[in-house]
Amino acid sequence: MDNFTALADVSDPSKLLAAAAECKAQPWSPEVGTGKTIGMLFFNPSLRTRMSTQKAAANLGMNTIVMNASSDGWVLEMEDGSVMDGAAQEHIKDAVHVMSQYCDVLAVRTFATLSDREADYQEAILSQFLRHAEVPVVSLESAIRHPLQSLADMLTIQEKGIKKPKIAVSWAPHPRALPQAVTNSFLEWSQLLDAEVVLTHPEGYDLHPEFAQHADKVTHDQEEAMAGADFVYVKNWSPYQQYGQVLPVDKNWTITEEKMGLTKQGNFMHCLPLRRNVVASDAVVDASVVYEQAKNRIFSAQAVLKTLLTENH
Ligand code: CP
Repeated sequence: MDNFTALADVSDPSKLLAAAAECKAQPWSPEVGTGKTIGMLFFNPSLRTRMSTQKAAANLGMNTIVMNASSDGWVLEMEDGSVMDGAAQEHIKDAVHVMSQYCDVLAVRTFATLSDREADYQEAILSQFLRHAEVPVVSLESAIRHPLQSLADMLTIQEKGIKKPKIAVSWAPHPRALPQAVTNSFLEWSQLLDAEVVLTHPEGYDLHPEFAQHADKVTHDQEEAMAGADFVYVKNWSPYQQYGQVLPVDKNWTITEEKMGLTKQGNFMHCLPLRRNVVASDAVVDASVVYEQAKNRIFSAQAVLKTLLTENH
């Protein structure tokens, strides 16, 4: 594995998932990363990704350098060949080459703009890191994928030991337009599971077909999707077609206890952060597995870092 930005980067995803489980059973292995440094650059806010990746690096004996790119660094120019006489003070090419001198792994969080679909789906910023980095690159959530979250989600589902589970992946309300990355990625990674995946969302909230194709079924009937489900994976996203918009929805898509009563095992999943009583009721969140998912973020990050360090030494 040269980088970790999508499922396609992973030569043996089942082995990586097994490595995450092994890291959970035996977290402390400083011999793997002593003397190595991870540089983490955040263009957007984070709680879980930042803390869990830092914890994972500490378990491996690594040093961590964290920077909030939008507040702590120079204003970066992203375009090749531009005359930099405006606000931008440093070119991304120079910044990434320089960070590569200090770090053995570079990790970056760069959300979708939700205004330029083409640039987002071409990973305008992440692709610059991949192009210029001299060390492996890890996505801490990009414009269209969140693979560290997905690996943790797969571990959480696997740990429940349910044979051929039914997973309902449901849209839920949110006052602001949000990216599609978490749902895209969950659907992509769900290929690892022997599961029935049913995607449900209001009309107009379709995802890009590249990701939606991984669902066994797509329905606008949320209750049909949730009926008999072992897991309900919930997330808001803005539509792919009417990109970045919040469309009117004619019924209540909030996950309630009543709706969870339709499920079989009732494992409510969400990547967090979550707006309580908008996305799901307090009672649903309090009875959920969201903290297990958040804990597993440590071990997904640890398995990825360990693999990158041991396969690229
Ligand atoms: N789930 C997740 O990525 O959380 P943060 O945005 O807080 O890192």
